[in-house]
Amino acid sequence: MVHGHQLSLWLACLGLALLGVPAAATGDESILNSEIGRQNNESLLWGPYRPNLYFGVRPRIPQSLMTGLMWGKVDTYNDFQNSIRYTCEQNEGMKGYGWDEYDTRRGGIQSIHDTENGLDITTSFVKVPGGAHGGSWAARIKGEINDETPQDRKTIVFFYVTQEGGGKLEALQGDDPKGYDGDLTLEGSSEGLGNYKLTVKRGTGEHPTSDHKLSEFRGKGTVVQSLTYPDEVLWQAKPVVFKQLKEGVDWLVENKYDNTDAPPPWQVYQLTNRPGAGNVHIIQKVFEGSFEFDVLFSSESAGKELTSADLTREIKETTESFGERFSSIFTLKAPFTAEKYKKFGRSMFSNLIGGIGYFHGQSVADRSYASEYDEENEGFWQEAAEARARNKQQLEGPYELFTAIPSRPFFPRGFLWDEGFHLLPIADWDIGLAMEVVKSWFSLMDDDGWIGREQILGSEARSKVPEEFQTQYPHYANPPTLFFVLDAFVEKLGKSNGTLPAGKEHLSQAALPLSTALVDSPELGLEYLRRLYPLLRRQFNWFKKTQAGDVKSYERDAYSTKEAYRWRGRTETHCLTSGLDDYPRPQPPHPSELHVDLLSWMGVMAKSLANIADALGLAEEVDDLTKVRDAIEHNLDDLHWSAKEGCYCDATVDDFEENELVCHKGYISLFPFLTGLLPADSPRLRPLLALLADEDELWSPHGIRSLSKKDPFYGTSENYWRSPVWINVNYMAIVQLHNLATQQGPHQATARDLYSRLRKNIVDTVYAAWEETGFAWEQYNPETGRGQRTQHFTGWTSLVVKVMAMDNLEEKAGQERDEL
Ligand SMILES: *[C@@H]1O[C@H](CO)[C@@H](O)[C@H](O)[C@H]1NC(C)=O
Ligand SMILES: *[C@@H]1O[C@H](CO)[C@@H](O)[C@H](O)[C@H]1NC(C)=O
Repeated sequence: MVHGHQLSLWLACLGLALLGVPAAATGDESILNSEIGRQNNESLLWGPYRPNLYFGVRPRIPQSLMTGLMWGKVDTYNDFQNSIRYTCEQNEGMKGYGWDEYDTRRGGIQSIHDTENGLDITTSFVKVPGGAHGGSWAARIKGEINDETPQDRKTIVFFYVTQEGGGKLEALQGDDPKGYDGDLTLEGSSEGLGNYKLTVKRGTGEHPTSDHKLSEFRGKGTVVQSLTYPDEVLWQAKPVVFKQLKEGVDWLVENKYDNTDAPPPWQVYQLTNRPGAGNVHIIQKVFEGSFEFDVLFSSESAGKELTSADLTREIKETTESFGERFSSIFTLKAPFTAEKYKKFGRSMFSNLIGGIGYFHGQSVADRSYASEYDEENEGFWQEAAEARARNKQQLEGPYELFTAIPSRPFFPRGFLWDEGFHLLPIADWDIGLAMEVVKSWFSLMDDDGWIGREQILGSEARSKVPEEFQTQYPHYANPPTLFFVLDAFVEKLGKSNGTLPAGKEHLSQAALPLSTALVDSPELGLEYLRRLYPLLRRQFNWFKKTQAGDVKSYERDAYSTKEAYRWRGRTETHCLTSGLDDYPRPQPPHPSELHVDLLSWMGVMAKSLANIADALGLAEEVDDLTKVRDAIEHNLDDLHWSAKEGCYCDATVDDFEENELVCHKGYISLFPFLTGLLPADSPRLRPLLALLADEDELWSPHGIRSLSKKDPFYGTSENYWRSPVWINVNYMAIVQLHNLATQQGPHQATARDLYSRLRKNIVDTVYAAWEETGFAWEQYNPETGRGQRTQHFTGWTSLVVKVMAMDNLEEKAGQERDEL
C-alpha cells in the first residue's frame, strides 16, 4: 500500500538521490512497481511490435517467439521473386497501407493496398487477456483480389514462426508430402510464454489444382517446413524462406521435371511438407482467388483455447471500442467535422500508435572519449572527423527499447528527437502507455546522462542503416523532446489532483484502468515522477556539461556567463545533432558559436524540471531551476536577439574575435517563441509574428517554411530544412499561437488570426496529400503542398490529429459575440 506519510518520506529521500546517485532499488514493493507494473507487462506483452514488417507479431521479451507474414503472386515463374511482400518498402507500388484503427491494449485492423499484386490484404489483430503469460492473441489474414485483376490470380502466402532463446516448438501434423487441407497446429513452450498452441486455420478460399505428375508430391493447400537454424540467423526470415524454396526447385531439376513438361509456377514454388520440431516453422499456403484464414495463439494458462468465433467477436468489439474512444478523445472541431476527416484522423493516429515497436539487441557506440571530441579548437570538425575515422566504435549492450517510430519503411527504429512528438497524441489516448515508453527511453541513459539519439538495436535494425550512420557518439545531443510529454503528464496530473474521477471513486489503485491509473491516482503519478526525476536531472546536467558554450573567452555581454550552449557534432554542412540537419549555421564552424535553438531547449528542460520538482515538493530544486530558467530567458535576449533583424539568431565571432550574430531567418529564429519561453507581452513577439506571417519570408499556404524565402540558402543543396514545411515545428507554432490567442495581451488578435489560418493550412495540406497518395509524408513542399521525401511518415506528421481536435477559435469568437 502507498500511504501518505510513506510518500512524503520518499519525497524527502529524493534529496539524496539528486546528488547523482540513482534511486536505490531496495526491494521496494510499491503498487506501481509490482501490481501495476505486472498488469502493464501483461497488457502490453503482445503486439505487431515489428513495425518494419507489413505484419509481424512478437512479445516484449528479448529472445522469444517471432512471427511474420509474406505473400506474392505466382502466375508466372519470373515475377514471383519480385512480387514477394514482407518488409515495408517505399518502391512496391502500394496504394497506401497501414492501420485503420489500432489500440495497443486491444488490437486493430490494417489494410494494405497491394496494387502490383492485384490484391487488398487486411490483417486484423486482437489480444485476449488472461492467465499468467500475457494472454492470447489472434489474427485474421484476408486477401481480396481487386477488380482490375483476373479473379483466378494465384497467391502464395507464408506465415512463419521462429523461436529464439530456447524452449520447444513443434508442428504436430503427419508428414504427407502433399501437405494438408485442414488446420495446422504448432505446440510450444518457453520460459516467458509458458505452454502455448499456435493454430493456422484452413480458412476459406480455393486452392489451385494441377494434373501435372508432380501432384503426387506437391499440391494441397497448406504445407509446413520445420527447421533448425542458429539463433542469430532467425531474423533473416526472407533469405531462409528463399533458401528453402530453392532447395525445392533444385530437387525438381534433379528429378528431371524440366522445361519440356514444366509444372505450373505455384507448384514449383511450393515447399516440401516437412513438419516436426525446430526453431523455424514456415507455413505456406497457396490460393487461387480471394482467401481468408486465421492464426490463433492460445496461452495455456489463459484457459480455454481461442476459436475463430472468438476472433470474430473480438474484432467487432475492438472496432466498436476504438470508434467510441477515438471520438471522445479526439473530438474534431470545425472546419474538420466531416466524416472524411475522422477517417483520416483515425488512420493517422492508428499508424502512429500501431507503429510502436519493441527492439532488442546490441548497438554501436564510439566510447573512445577522444580529446578531439571536446571540439575546442578552430578546425575542430576536421579533427573530430579524423578521430571518428580511427573507428573506435564497438558493439555494446544488449539493450531493449519500447518506442514509436517515424516511418515503418524508412525509419523503423527509435529517434529521440521524434519521440517526444510521437507521444503527445499517444498520451491523450493512453497516458500509461506513453509513460511506459518514456521509462523505456530513460532506461537507455548511461551513467553520465547521455541517451543516444538514434537507437539501432540488434542486427535486424542495423541491416536498415548504412554503416557510416550506425555509430552513436556519447558527446552528441539531440532535442530533449521527451520533456514535452512530461509536461503533458504533469498537466494531466494537476487536473486530477487528489480525487478519483467520477465513476472510479470506489476502485482501489490496483484496479484503476491502466491507460489512466497514473493520473487518476496522483499518488501513483507522483511516485512515477519521483522515480524518474533523478534520471531527468542527470540528463539535464549532462547537457549543461557537454554542450556548454563559451561566454567568457569572448567578453560577451550577458546576464549569465553559464547559460549559453553549442551543439557538438556539427560539420561545415550539417548540424545533425540539432535535428535540423542542413539548416544554415555560422560559417565556418567555430568554437565560439552559440546556438539559439539549443539554449531554448535548455529552457524547456529547466521549466519542465521545475514543474516536476514543484509537484514533488522539492523546494530547493525549484529554486535552483527557476534561477537557471531566468538566466536562460535573459541570455536569449542578451546573446541571441538581433534588434536589426527583428529575430533570434545564432552567434559566433568575427575576425577580431568580437561577438557577431548570424541570422538565417527560419525555424531557429522563432525558437524561443516555439518552445513557449516568451511571455504574452514580450516585445519580441511583434517582429517574430510579423516574420512568421510574411509570405515573402516564412508563411506559405501549406504551413510555415523552415527557411525564409529571402535567405540566400533557401531551397539550396540538399534542401532538407531549407524550405520544406515540417509538421512538428508547425505544431509547436500552432500551440504557441493558441496560447497567445487565448490570453489577454497585445498580440491576442493577431495570434488568433494566425492560429486559425495555420491550423487550417496544415490540416488541409496533410489531408490533401494523404487523399491523393494514400500516405503521410515526412515534409511538405511550401509551393505545391505535395508530400516529399519519406513515404508513410506517420511519426510526427500524425500530430495533425491533435491539430484537428484543437479549438476552433473562429467559432468560439462567434459564440462569445452571441452571448454578449
Ligand atoms: C515488467 O517487465 C520488465 C521488462 O521485462 C521487467 O524488468 C519488470 O520486472 C516487469 N515488472 C513486473 C512487475 O513484473
Ligand atoms: C492540488 O491542489 C492544491 C490546492 O487544492 C495545490 O496546492 C496543489 O499544488 C495541487 N497539486 C498538483 C499536483 O497540482
